Amino acid sequence: MVIQDSVDARPITQEADFLRLKAFDHVELWVGNAKQAAYFYQHAFGFTPIAYSGLETGNRKFASYVLQQGKIRLVVTAPYHPNTEISAHHLVHGDGVKAIGLEVFDAAEAYEVTTSRGARGVHEAMTLSDDFGQVSISAIETYGDTIHRFVERSGYEGPFWPGYEPIGDGKPRKTVGLAAIDHIVGNVELGKMNYWVKFYHQTMGFRQLIHFDDAAISTEYSALMSKVMENGNGRIKFPINEPAEGRKRSQIEEYLDFYHGPGVQHIAMLTDDIIHTVAELRDRGVEFLTPPPDAYYDEVIIQRLQEKNVKVKEDLEAIRKLGILLDADDEGYLLQIFTRPVGDRPTLFFEIIQRRGSRGFGAGNFKALFESIEREQAKRGTL
Ligand code: FE2
Repeated sequence: MVIQDSVDARPITQEADFLRLKAFDHVELWVGNAKQAAYFYQHAFGFTPIAYSGLETGNRKFASYVLQQGKIRLVVTAPYHPNTEISAHHLVHGDGVKAIGLEVFDAAEAYEVTTSRGARGVHEAMTLSDDFGQVSISAIETYGDTIHRFVERSGYEGPFWPGYEPIGDGKPRKTVGLAAIDHIVGNVELGKMNYWVKFYHQTMGFRQLIHFDDAAISTEYSALMSKVMENGNGRIKFPINEPAEGRKRSQIEEYLDFYHGPGVQHIAMLTDDIIHTVAELRDRGVEFLTPPPDAYYDEVIIQRLQEKNVKVKEDLEAIRKLGILLDADDEGYLLQIFTRPVGDRPTLFFEIIQRRGSRGFGAGNFKALFESIEREQAKRGTL
């Protein structure tokens, strides 16, 4: 099947969940220095290192650390030598997400069902074994140089998968309360959003949850369009952004210019106590976007809560002090905040989100958020 690169105006309707994804399995970043990246995610973000692969384990190609917090598994990997796929990827993209791992019941079946529907394969299912059991992994391509890995790990009792050995003293580090991945956003080129919406629908059985057009998401300078795709059990959400024509360079274009192509823009991580989580992260030196002006807390939020008849359980003064954003809809509300890019390039960043009923993405905050991003773009000379 060929995926047509054209706009399909028909609404995407629910259909059988043929891929049967269980949940996010891991996210792997390819970086320049895995040891230091692991230190950053451990000490700034509260992850615990649980597994390692590298020279000491007999791996002479790359160094790789697996870090865990709640259900989130983050893998950071760096190459030892120049003529490798990892080093080539790093040369072009800098530090960034290579693989979004998805847990499946059957890695061979996931490969077969997606590639027969038009996905391009990276590799067929391969089974790795060690004393802890076995894990099967297959992979397909998605936007840019990013891939999806299908991981079948039923019954595996090791820390990650064969080739990785347990590290650390077994004691969890002091976490910041991050519990699970909520969604992972991809930035794609102008005119490509609908291509990837169809890709996720046709090859992976996702349905479209929401569509934000450039009228909803625009400021004086930048605009973007976004569609949110969701899998059958609702646990995996992939918003896809594309730039829209604005007066100046949009944040999506800035990303594409510095990542040198499409890729993961942000990873949103859930907490059930955002005030604690953000206070901890700030204390550990994690940088967030500039907080919105006082009018946002004194007027915008108050008005939105009244309109939706929503009562907030958290202390609004603490929310203001930490620069947390709030959005409400008919189902409830959500609290969210965005980090600055975590590397040198203005590419990958993180979102911290707490949901209280709302299943939205903070559309009511897009304007405040983008104006904040634009102030930072202006400082970088990329607006
Ligand atoms: Fe988000």
